[in-house]
Amino acid sequence: MKKLGVAVIGTGFWGKNHARIYKELAATELIAVCDINPERATRVASQFSAKPYTDTAKMFRNNRIDAVSICTWSTELAKEARKALKMKKHVLVEKPMATNTIQAKKLIEIAKENSVLLSVGFLMRFIPGLKRIKKAVEQKKIGDMVCANAKRVSQWPERIGDVGVVKDTAIHDIDVIKYITDEDPIGVYAKTGNMKHKKFEDYAQIMLTYKDGKSAFIESNWLTPYKTRKLVITGSEAIIKLDYITQEVWIEKQKRTVKPEYKFKEPLKLELQHFADCILKKEKPIISGFDGLKALKIAEGALKSSIKNKLIKLNW
Ligand SMILES: NC(=O)c1ccc[n+]([C@@H]2O[C@H](COP(=O)([O-])OP(=O)(O)OC[C@H]3O[C@@H](n4cnc5c(N)ncnc54)[C@H](O)[C@@H]3O)[C@@H](O)[C@H]2O)c1
Repeated sequence: MKKLGVAVIGTGFWGKNHARIYKELAATELIAVCDINPERATRVASQFSAKPYTDTAKMFRNNRIDAVSICTWSTELAKEARKALKMKKHVLVEKPMATNTIQAKKLIEIAKENSVLLSVGFLMRFIPGLKRIKKAVEQKKIGDMVCANAKRVSQWPERIGDVGVVKDTAIHDIDVIKYITDEDPIGVYAKTGNMKHKKFEDYAQIMLTYKDGKSAFIESNWLTPYKTRKLVITGSEAIIKLDYITQEVWIEKQKRTVKPEYKFKEPLKLELQHFADCILKKEKPIISGFDGLKALKIAEGALKSSIKNKLIKLNW
């Protein structure tokens, strides 16, 4: 089978991991990497035997590149995704996909016009136990869902200087909750603010409300001295818990707790394998551009809610 020719744009903390995995996967051939910082581009290219570029326009002219991962600063993602889609490259753009919904909608349009695949790096979807949690909720194994509670807190990763904690961090949970409920929230109420970060919010408490009365609560910050990434789904009959870091899952019923065993897997490897498979087999990815757009719409609603100090209704 022909290998998929891939490139990585942005070879910082996260892009380096994309490059490493594309090098490891049997389905992909890492052709090139690009970073506006020439020293980084050269270092990562030589580490993974790829060609370094500092200008994406030049790199996109390389016909061996079928698909790209875009891992630049968040405020640069949409610009680079747009260029890649216009050059008919399949695109996996890192979250938050774009800095606003206008840019995200445009990316969806351009991908359609050019008949290429567009997916968003919502990595949490590839945590092995999450599918089971979704199924348990769908099949009412926990009874009726009452609420979801997500906690994603840690210290401020200082390299993130161009968006706040809502679009950088809470967006993961916004997407996961949408995936599990398979429903769009009808309202969002949030409190956000900044204590250490000068420019953007570094804490956010977000509440999502749903038509049938269930709700979701997302707590995100860059203030807590230790890292926690957890999800708790409360149902009328049982509770499901997930620790994203250890990948452990617990199903707590009144009389016993079940702890299904999952082999620890690197989610990014699963994500990039899925991206490559979808392109090679011409299948739809589990995360579409619309998922990115919806998550951004909720994130924007949360920020607006905090400024206005009121519930924001979401129309879909
Ligand atoms: N899905 C996840 O779990 C996850 C995890 C970490 C980071 N990310 C996302 O990945 C992206 C990168 O994050 P990071 O932590 O690696 O940041 P980083 O600052 O370490 O790296 C970003 C790199 O992009 C380069 N760059 C910026 N603009 C560019 C452009 N136009 N063309 C080429 N290179 C450019 C910078 O020089 C830098 O080397 C962010 O959007 C972040 O939200 C996602």
